[in-house]
Amino acid sequence: MAEPPMLRDTLEPGIIRLTFNRPDKLNALSTPLIAALEAELDRIAADPAVRVVILAGAGDRAFVAGADIAEYRGNRAAAFAAYQFRSRRVFDRLEGLPQPTIAAIRGYALGGGFELALCCDLIVCARSARLGLPEGQLGLSPGGGGTQRLSRAVGKGIASDMMLAGRRITGERAYAIGLAVELADDEDLAAAALARAQAMLKLAPLAQTEMKRLIRQGFDAPLPVAQSLEQEVLLRLYGSEDGQEGIAAFLDKRQPNFKGK
Ligand code: COA
Repeated sequence: MAEPPMLRDTLEPGIIRLTFNRPDKLNALSTPLIAALEAELDRIAADPAVRVVILAGAGDRAFVAGADIAEYRGNRAAAFAAYQFRSRRVFDRLEGLPQPTIAAIRGYALGGGFELALCCDLIVCARSARLGLPEGQLGLSPGGGGTQRLSRAVGKGIASDMMLAGRRITGERAYAIGLAVELADDEDLAAAALARAQAMLKLAPLAQTEMKRLIRQGFDAPLPVAQSLEQEVLLRLYGSEDGQEGIAAFLDKRQPNFKGK
């Protein structure tokens, strides 16, 4: 039987790992792979038992080497547009997931692969990581939000270097410029991502969902609007069961028991 294009594992209660599973094609985002990702994201978004999602690539050569270029051949405009509309929807869904997400990158994260990582809340890189937006070499431009999310994440200069000069960056550089929050040896990458996920389990889920929304949406809003959003969120969280539980637990010198309410 053919291997499924995406694997889902529960690493421990609340922590799910989704693995792009086309290692012989460097996990390129074929239509079946994008469809499988979309189905998983839909399931996860509706499942409060899932607290953190880790994205990873199968094999040791790539996270994801971009869209499946084999599907692009032949100037089939309608199929190309359908793929692009779908991937935009899936990327936005990943970014908007209520649960925190971690991209664990080993090897190539190019084009759509890098853009997927940019939709995650945290990026953890192995030393072998190579990140880039090489679409210009194909005569194309990024289509998964890369021109916008990368510029917002690292500034116009580095984003322009990566797109206009086709510059790939290493995991070490990604860490140095703050794109990745951690740099690990390749054999330690999975453990590094898991440790971050375990840390996330300790915080209140509602607060995490709201904070990740504020970080993304607030970035694109005028500062006073973003500050008002922030304040509304805090007032709401203060009145939530988890807000009161967190305060009580601190004062009682015990661990909080958050319920996501
Ligand atoms: N789409 C389809 N297939 C891809 C792919 C992609 N984006 N990236 C890699 N592959 C396939 C290769 O065609 C090759 O398949 P084959 O063994 O059947 O010939 C296999 O994955 C291994 O890749 P290969 O190119 O042989 O490895 P390499 O070490 O020589 O080069 C890269 C690695 C990542 C530099 C190179 O594969 C590459 O440039 N890929 C495309 C990256 C890209 O442009 N992404 C943006 C797409 S919009």
